Amino acid sequence: MRAEAERIAELRSEIARHNHLYYDLDRPAISDAEYDELMQELRTLERAHPELVSPDSPTQRVGSPPAGKFAKIRHSVPMLSLANALTGDDVIAFVERVRRFLGLESGARIDFTAEPKIDGLSLSLRYEQGTLVRGATRGDGTEGEDVTANVKVVAGIPHSLKGRDIPEVCEVRGEVYMTKAAFLALNEQQGAAGKTVFANPRNSAAGSLRQLDPAVTASRPLKFFAYAWGEMSVLRARTQWAMLGWFAQHGLETNPLARLCHSVEELLEFHHEIELVRATLDYDIDGVVYKVDRLDWQERLGFVSRDPRWAVAHKFPAQRATTVVNAIEIQVGRTGALTPVAKLAPVGVGGVVVSNVSLHNEDVIRKLDVRVGDTVTVQRAGDVIPQVLGVVRERRPRDAQPYVFPQTCPCPLATAVVRDRTAAGEVGARARCSGELACPYQRIEHLRHFVSRRAFDIEGLGEKQITLFFEKGWIQEPADVFTLAARNDTIKLEEQEGFGEVSVRKLFAAIEARRTVSLERFVYALGIHHVGETTGRALARGYGSWRALREACSRLAAGDAEARQELDAMDQIGETVIDSLAAYFADRHNVERIERLTQQVRIRDAEQPARISPIAGKTLVFTGHLERLTREEAKALAERLGATVSGSVSRKTDWVVAGAEAGSKLRKAAELGVQVMDEAQFLALIGAQRGEGEGGEGGRGARDAAEPDDEDRSGE
Ligand code: IVH
Repeated sequence: MRAEAERIAELRSEIARHNHLYYDLDRPAISDAEYDELMQELRTLERAHPELVSPDSPTQRVGSPPAGKFAKIRHSVPMLSLANALTGDDVIAFVERVRRFLGLESGARIDFTAEPKIDGLSLSLRYEQGTLVRGATRGDGTEGEDVTANVKVVAGIPHSLKGRDIPEVCEVRGEVYMTKAAFLALNEQQGAAGKTVFANPRNSAAGSLRQLDPAVTASRPLKFFAYAWGEMSVLRARTQWAMLGWFAQHGLETNPLARLCHSVEELLEFHHEIELVRATLDYDIDGVVYKVDRLDWQERLGFVSRDPRWAVAHKFPAQRATTVVNAIEIQVGRTGALTPVAKLAPVGVGGVVVSNVSLHNEDVIRKLDVRVGDTVTVQRAGDVIPQVLGVVRERRPRDAQPYVFPQTCPCPLATAVVRDRTAAGEVGARARCSGELACPYQRIEHLRHFVSRRAFDIEGLGEKQITLFFEKGWIQEPADVFTLAARNDTIKLEEQEGFGEVSVRKLFAAIEARRTVSLERFVYALGIHHVGETTGRALARGYGSWRALREACSRLAAGDAEARQELDAMDQIGETVIDSLAAYFADRHNVERIERLTQQVRIRDAEQPARISPIAGKTLVFTGHLERLTREEAKALAERLGATVSGSVSRKTDWVVAGAEAGSKLRKAAELGVQVMDEAQFLALIGAQRGEGEGGEGGRGARDAAEPDDEDRSGE
């Protein structure tokens, strides 16, 4: 009994700690399955000793109390969680419980809505008179965080519900998530900038939504699926399925895979089908959810503690495996970053073979204490990237040695390794080769980047060829790619092993085809630190031509304050990028290399964004106090319509939108003769446009559009 009480206390504090890591810090230390195990153990112990159950036990609450930085919001209707079913038998038992509870005969049909269980974070959106007035996270289920400003910049969340007959109060609930592709791209960007790298899409969605600056949220590609509701002044449907249709009809995204099922067999079939397509979906799911379709039955079934009796989550088994670490290798990236990679004995994890896993950096290796020869547990985090969860200590070979992170680059020059510094001057996690472009590994990576798909996109010039050409001395720098054909009289590539007349002709044709390149690709291809695709595009759009951009960068490198200011005023361009550009263009070698390259290629001026709205391609500045829009909202709106929003007025500004008490920016606009409009004029200008633009987005809810509002769609 004593021992059990102690174990209960231990489990509670352990769970509280993991709740904090997961919910507040978006940095879980254990997998969902491990967390579930802890909870399960606690539940079992509490069931055996009901006298030890206390209201503050994690079994009595959902999630963790909200973190401190946002205002708290009390949910008018609590946000629930779901009981889990792990096996088919659990699902059968769930359906039987429902049947018994409702007093239905054994043969009676019960319909269920079946939907994927999205692995994001749940949100409650409150619409009053059809207008979005509040967004809140789940928090502990009773009280969440006020993330209104942030949800307003999420692309899939409408600011007003479409259509007629909208109840006065509508609380729409659903999941905010990030696509796997967006997650990978974001992590790449974050990593390059030395910022937090997220473990999986769920964490990156949570981290992106819970930003104190909505502009940061706006820059992260979040999406939303509606699947439930809270307070509703009137319900416009009688079934779960029809409610999904109603959501879609009123401008909310619903999951296209949702299905109406009529029997347990159909539920299990759905689970099976979704598991098969799981890996191909662009978002993470961790199971499927079944909900009794009839809302009057849901009402009767009610809840047990926090879990509805009318719904259950049918989870997928965890995607994990154990295998042996054969080696730990260091990879050198284009910018010199050293990344340790565990080379594994190949193992299948959830349908893919994993043989390489990034160990990220020295600190991660130390924390895990991974050694060559160790057996490790590997998980595909949120289905995407495999990661090492931990070492199976019992299986460690006696002679396994702690891993020593190299102090020199593995390249032939063996240049010293330095640790990055953060903006605050602290030692960062990333180790970097200090050799810059003297390091042959970096040069190869640099060339690979230059010809890669999103840069010059030269087919037939992959890693293997670049390495070979580099080692032979045929391609040393980007310009050499374009003079290769002319030098082939002496090189005689067709005589190389693995090449022939045809493949050489093809390669030269592929190179020739890329001699003309768009400005944004060109800028990205240069491989300047912190200048990724997005930044490349912003610079290209902002300056229009290579000539203009080049000139600005030279001035910047020479210390010209106006050039710096001009860049700083651009959206997407911050201090880090500006410093990096300045350093890059101050280096004579870089400038000469570019000089040689630009003699070989033709750089197309940036395209103006398609004229879809009167503000597309324009540069706007908002100033003063706006009445009907928050500043973030105005910015997000303008950007969605193709405008660039800048923080300061310059000759490049097309319009200044001035609210009350506008000051210096308004004066500057007058000085420079920039057009000024007020908020109402701005809204009038884009108002008509918004309807048009979004209607044309197409597809969404089309299948539901023909359905009358409160029609029960169970016949479909
Ligand atoms: S229904 C009673 N439907 O799973 C209704 N939840 O484990 C409660 N989730 O908090 C939610 N996809 O964050 C529901 N299609 C779906 C879902 C879903 C993901 C999440 C949601 C909820 C958690 C419960």
